[in-house]
Amino acid sequence: MRREVSSGNKPSRVLNLSPVEPLGPHHNISGFTCGKHDLDYWFAKYARTSNEAGGGRVFVTAEPDGQVAGFYALATGAVDFAKSSPQMQADLSANFPVSTIKLTRMAVDRRFQKQEVGRSLLIDAISRTLRLSRDAGVKALVVDALDDELRGFCKHFGFRDLPGERLTLFHLVQDIAASLP
Ligand SMILES: CC(C)(COP(=O)(O)OP(=O)(O)OC[C@H]1O[C@@H](n2cnc3c(N)ncnc32)[C@H](O)[C@@H]1OP(=O)(O)O)[C@@H](O)C(=O)NCCC(=O)NCCS
Repeated sequence: MRREVSSGNKPSRVLNLSPVEPLGPHHNISGFTCGKHDLDYWFAKYARTSNEAGGGRVFVTAEPDGQVAGFYALATGAVDFAKSSPQMQADLSANFPVSTIKLTRMAVDRRFQKQEVGRSLLIDAISRTLRLSRDAGVKALVVDALDDELRGFCKHFGFRDLPGERLTLFHLVQDIAASLP
């Protein structure tokens, strides 16, 4: 069933895009342009392989003809205990890395930017992290922000800087429920 992409907590312009869903064979990934060459290149060349090989699962929202309007990629990760934040360390053993889910890439096609598609993608990634954390230990969702644009976007949604890492941010799983609309 198709639905409008909405912010969840406020009305948005109705876009005829699919719900956020796993990347599949019916999706058209060529022609996706977010304005950042490296991201466009990765998506066109490696998204399918990464998705199928388990390197990072890719989730998309798409137009009715399958043309992708936005995507993100999710993988498991771990942060050295000593390099994590005090909030991440709480109640965990210093002998083990801190288990995380990593949002490794995220982008919205130029034609759909600033229309709350990024918000829908991030909310989906957050919801998925929460679900995964019910079956395996996950302390935080960590974002590798490749540049200041995604960093600013994530900070807007309450992510905090990982100490000493300017472009790595985290959101504690225990705080995630409160961040969902
Ligand atoms: C960054 C990006 C993912 C944001 O997606 P988007 O669909 O344009 O953003 P939305 O319309 O969903 O914005 C939702 C909210 O975030 C805010 N926001 C968007 N981009 C922001 C930024 N760079 N810094 C701070 N806030 C930002 C919006 O103002 C909006 O605020 P509101 O809650 O007050 O309405 C998208 O612009 C993009 O793909 N850019 C190019 C590629 C890129 O830089 N990817 C990240 C590197 S991996």
